[in-house]
Amino acid sequence: MAGSRGRFASRLGFILAAAGSAVGLGNVWKFPYLAGAHGGAVFLIVYLGFVFTIGISVMLAEFAIGRAGEKNPVGAFKHLKGGAWTGVGYLGVVGSCVILSFYSVVGGWTIAYAVKTAAGMPGLTDAKAFGGAFAAFVADPLQPVLYHLAFMAMTIAIVARGIERGIERACRLLMPLLFVIVVVLCARSLTLPGAMAGIKFFLNPDFSKLTGAMVTAALGQAFFSLSLGMGSMITLGSYLSRQTHLAGSALWVTSLDTLIAILAGFMILPAVFAFGFDPGAGPGLSFITLPAVFAKMPWGAGFGTLFFVLLAVAALTSAFSLLEVVVAFLVDEKGWTRAKAAYGAGAAIFLLGVPSSLSFGAWELKLFGKGFFELMDYAASNVMLPLGGVLIALFVGWVVSPRIMAETAGEDGRSFSLAPAWRVICRYVAPLAIAWVLISGL
Ligand code: PFF
Repeated sequence: MAGSRGRFASRLGFILAAAGSAVGLGNVWKFPYLAGAHGGAVFLIVYLGFVFTIGISVMLAEFAIGRAGEKNPVGAFKHLKGGAWTGVGYLGVVGSCVILSFYSVVGGWTIAYAVKTAAGMPGLTDAKAFGGAFAAFVADPLQPVLYHLAFMAMTIAIVARGIERGIERACRLLMPLLFVIVVVLCARSLTLPGAMAGIKFFLNPDFSKLTGAMVTAALGQAFFSLSLGMGSMITLGSYLSRQTHLAGSALWVTSLDTLIAILAGFMILPAVFAFGFDPGAGPGLSFITLPAVFAKMPWGAGFGTLFFVLLAVAALTSAFSLLEVVVAFLVDEKGWTRAKAAYGAGAAIFLLGVPSSLSFGAWELKLFGKGFFELMDYAASNVMLPLGGVLIALFVGWVVSPRIMAETAGEDGRSFSLAPAWRVICRYVAPLAIAWVLISGL
């Protein structure tokens, strides 16, 4: 029994924690600017196609590996097969540290911007001025590091409390809050004069934008957004009871993640169009263009603050699951107490994030021709995450297929009728598609 490791108290709690992991900066910050840069609706269609075939299949594979192994990713692979396959678990632990190190830096920016927007940013009006303010903020050697520290401290405080009292309870509170904020901001954005252009852009497919680069970006985004490939879903699955229906849970989590991404599109693109900004502005969309949009909007300071609180909440619930991978590893494999693991790993990841935070101007450190933040993001998103995804799909499709297939059958008295399709996707479709993304990403 895994009783001493902790366990989710309810299926709803698990779904909200897994959805909390999936819904993050990837949905609210990245998805709208990727859709903006890649032709709106075409990107959405390709993205949805990947999410509901490959994405959901790999998520189910991770849940099943986690519950069958009843351990962190390293322990689960060791238990189910051992040998070189254990390396996939280590890839997840290392990858989670790398992702969390730079994710927390951006998480810190969201807290900083919630504070700044609430306090008001006087004198700034157009996107250019906000661009200057953002560049000056991230180039500061101290402020962003302190906000990164604050973000990590909150993550550590929750994860140290455990699964049920920490992550489950926080997500039960924060996820509904996040949903309400998204709906309020959507309503505001969609009723702005001139919002229609943004809605049209988001819903009218421009098929000339259907390029290889766009398809690659869509699959990469599907993986990142669903928190796949890094063992987060394996770890959360390891705290699940035998009765929980895995396939149904994967469908719930995937659908919630997609719903929030689409709502984020409806929240951001109409506002950007209504005020005449460029939807393809890239990563600066949230921190530069949107504050300029809010500055022109009635009650903009209020809506702006709400937006950055939303981003911070979304980022935090994702950060819990990343730190949990490392904590579960240290607790299960190294015998650490949960508190020691959360504080120790959290502190180390904070330090790893410092050069990322400084790489926006305070410290000109270039490795392999990239800034430190860029390098961490690239290594995790373009290499580790797809590599983990391919290996997890192959593992479930070929190596432990009968064991894992049995894991999803007969729970709750229900059988899983799509198991044959799932297996084909794990065996052939997912590895080939992800390998293609991996190779084109290098
Ligand atoms: N899914 C999160 C997001 O969309 O922001 C990011 C993430 C969390 C990626 C956990 C990977 C992961 F293991």
